[in-house]
Amino acid sequence: MKLGVLISGRGSNLQALIDATADPAFPAEIAVVISNIADVQGLERAAKAGIPTAVVDHKAHDGRPAFETALTATLEGHGVRLVCLAGFMRLLTKGFVDHWRDRIINIHPSLLPAFKGLNTHERVLHYGVKFTGCTVHYVRAEMDDGPIIVQGAVPVLPGDTADSLGARVLGVEHRIYPLAVRLVAEGRARVIGNAVNVDQPPGDGDGTANIVVINPAG
Ligand code: GRF
Repeated sequence: MKLGVLISGRGSNLQALIDATADPAFPAEIAVVISNIADVQGLERAAKAGIPTAVVDHKAHDGRPAFETALTATLEGHGVRLVCLAGFMRLLTKGFVDHWRDRIINIHPSLLPAFKGLNTHERVLHYGVKFTGCTVHYVRAEMDDGPIIVQGAVPVLPGDTADSLGARVLGVEHRIYPLAVRLVAEGRARVIGNAVNVDQPPGDGDGTANIVVINPAG
């Protein structure tokens, strides 16, 4: 399955996908990496891996629909079947999301539907919750909303700062994004209503393929 990865910056989740797809047994490959900002680290990571890159600058387009038309043209020009948002910092219109319905996924650094939006780790610490984590979900028109494919749970530890907690969560993001892409590419993450049913291959595991729990030492 050909992936198109949309980024706006550092691209550490992109790197996790690059590393996973380097395995010939992985059921997906990255066809193109698109950034809305030039000269970001994620573009360098893609170039280093020999993956085609493109910059589609939102400021160079007259309005969101024109920007998104350019995004779709670039994605479809590379034969993309699944769009992976990986730190892509533009809100997408319903038109774009509907065009790619059930073919576009996102990673968010919280256990959705809690803590949508930005500054998740600061708010997690403010509320004093004991567990947080990260979520890969199919994208719907509302921000950080949509059927959940995989979640990883991470404990909040005494003395945590937003940075220390964010680093712990990011480590799990790098595990669950490739896992979610694998489940989608293998046709095992089927949307049923507002939820995702993950099919287990016969004889494989205990039905928890889309749950990752990290222990404090992990
Ligand atoms: C990640 O925390 C991701 O969950 C969020 O944006 C951040 C992107 O980081 N959507 P990176 O660019 O993948 O390093």
